[in-house]
Amino acid sequence: KKGGYRFYMEKEIYEQYDVLKENTLGRNTKEGIKFDEVDKNFFEGINNIIISACGTSYHAGLVGKYLIERSAKIRVNVEVASELRYRNPLLTKDTLFIVISQSGETADTLETLKMAKKAGLKTLALCNVDNSSIVREADKTILLRAGIEKGVASTKAFATQVMTLWMLSNYLADKNEYEIINKAIESTKVNPKIHEKIKRLSKRYLHGHGFFYIGRDIFYPLALEGALKLKEISYIHAEGYPAGEMKHGPIALADPELFVVALLSKNILFEKTKSNIEELVARDATVLTISSELIELTDDFIQISDSNHPMIEFFEMMVITQLLALEVAIRRGNDVDMPRNLAKSVTVE
Ligand code: F6R
Repeated sequence: KKGGYRFYMEKEIYEQYDVLKENTLGRNTKEGIKFDEVDKNFFEGINNIIISACGTSYHAGLVGKYLIERSAKIRVNVEVASELRYRNPLLTKDTLFIVISQSGETADTLETLKMAKKAGLKTLALCNVDNSSIVREADKTILLRAGIEKGVASTKAFATQVMTLWMLSNYLADKNEYEIINKAIESTKVNPKIHEKIKRLSKRYLHGHGFFYIGRDIFYPLALEGALKLKEISYIHAEGYPAGEMKHGPIALADPELFVVALLSKNILFEKTKSNIEELVARDATVLTISSELIELTDDFIQISDSNHPMIEFFEMMVITQLLALEVAIRRGNDVDMPRNLAKSVTVE
């Protein structure tokens, strides 16, 4: 069933290319973005967007904020559902309420959706499971088409969530990035040489006192997600941080046993992020940089392909962070598909 892969999670990482093809089929077209599930009228009168989700789906939402605000110029607030639910939020009717959920059954996310409906907001679900509670509750749904995800650590569903938000940002902005989207999908094909390199590297990253993942802009939510993947399956402490925040406290932890995964985009704030990396190197942190630009100053380096769009870099780096978490966890002898204390779908709060 695992088709020669050691774990479902590994299989699902490798499936991402096909899954994204499916996710964008008939939606990313030469003429622009099309969604059969919603039409333009649905978005009329919308001045704000709230995105509500948990965990990995929340991280996808954060990427969506950068993309939608930048292209469509609509203000987006992204909320952790368990917080939003109890803080009596200000909900105005010119707000589109988007929930993101792989399972469609996450209790907190579902409750925020009900709350938004009650307040008279238009609601849209980005969900992987048709006929789930969230799909039944939402006004409209765009299905993620990721197929069944077995690994408890979400990988391919995250890929489709980010892709769907990217398409939605184009849709709302009347922007056509047909070719770029296709290139981004291409970039999720696992490069066997890179996977081998990650396997080798992983043995050096087993015994530190923790990991920082750092990045700026859309690479900041990717840093959060990379850190979550690692902690879920390897049980090593990991945190994602905006690269520019290091000097406001966390850099005090830097020493050779602090491992840093630096997501260094060529296309967004390259120099700024590079100098954040230099500061960590100067304080003797052990740094693994992921970039298309050859960086010799750090201990380790994984080179991604050279591209001129941050979303292409994003998807290639996403795969690398997933594989890194996978290989570290496997070396530690963990059951990657069934991490301790976690359930695939969190239907109780
Ligand atoms: C992490 C993970 C969880 C889920 C979260 C929300 O790998 O899978 O953080 O993302 O429990 O689940 P859904 O998306 O089903 O609402």
